[in-house]
Amino acid sequence: MNTEALKKTAEIMMNKPKGLLAMDESSPTCAKRFAALKIPETEENRVRYRELIVTTPNLSNYISGAILFDETFHQKMSTGILFRDHLNSIGILPGIKVDTGAKDFSCHPNEKITEGLDGLRDRLVNYEKLGAKFCKWRAVITIGDNIPSQACISSNCNALARYASLCQENNLVPIVEPEVLINGKHSIDKCNTITRETLKCLFDQLALLNIYLPGTILKPSMVISGDSNDSRADFKMVADMTIKCLKDICPDDLGGIAFLSGGQTNEEATTHLNLMNKDYDSLPWRVTFSYARAIQQSALNAWCGKDENSQKSQEILSERANLCSKASIGEL
Ligand code: 13P
Repeated sequence: MNTEALKKTAEIMMNKPKGLLAMDESSPTCAKRFAALKIPETEENRVRYRELIVTTPNLSNYISGAILFDETFHQKMSTGILFRDHLNSIGILPGIKVDTGAKDFSCHPNEKITEGLDGLRDRLVNYEKLGAKFCKWRAVITIGDNIPSQACISSNCNALARYASLCQENNLVPIVEPEVLINGKHSIDKCNTITRETLKCLFDQLALLNIYLPGTILKPSMVISGDSNDSRADFKMVADMTIKCLKDICPDDLGGIAFLSGGQTNEEATTHLNLMNKDYDSLPWRVTFSYARAIQQSALNAWCGKDENSQKSQEILSERANLCSKASIGEL
């Protein structure tokens, strides 16, 4: 493990005023998003769409790293250039999602466990050789009647730590993503309690496995009311409670924090991030974005699989990335 290299990569990923672009939807998830817009779910269309994203003018003004799905990492664009080489050439670090998905957790109804540790070392050796600089692993915590269980939180956090250790052995910065899902009627207080429990458990596990924190990025969900709660907390409360939670739990030497959008609207995702950066100027780590839907969805809607919409779609994507970038320095 080269701690200097890991720290340097994490610093580049957290460069101001940039954030990360999550474009690592698995083929089934991508298929769902395409199907909603009646875009045929073909490999060719996935290439067309992702090529549109990475050739958006000025993207690297706002984005420091892009998280790719395995298929995209090995794919070529229509120009014959590999996606990962194109990203490097425009100053965006290529990263790779390496978990193999959140699966039903045995004997724990309605809970998920993320898989992908088997054979991970060999895959990471290969990704690193091919130029990946960082990785992502997403764990899913669901709030509901009597869940999450301690078993679900502990098992997922242990897997995140084992993944992080394998990444660092191969000089790849691990993004550790424990997503507390927004779905449900729960209050912001309930989300706060569960997010705290999850993050405490995660940092205990990272410490147990001696994970090098300056070379690690946390990708958390925000502390936020459930999406079907009747009296959802306002922007300011989400920003304040999220920052308090992170300050109480995240060690100061963590490499950085980059939120997922998790089903928030575009406006929510940027306003919350902006408030956190505007109202708190002496945080020990950078607080930025690693959004998928809050950057991509409106551009995908505009594209709809048609070449004649590509320019408009890129304009929308660029504008979303620009707004996220401004929010990441509190200047929205
Ligand atoms: P969203 O921003 O759409 O939640 O996606 C982020 C992500 O990478 C989920 O793993």
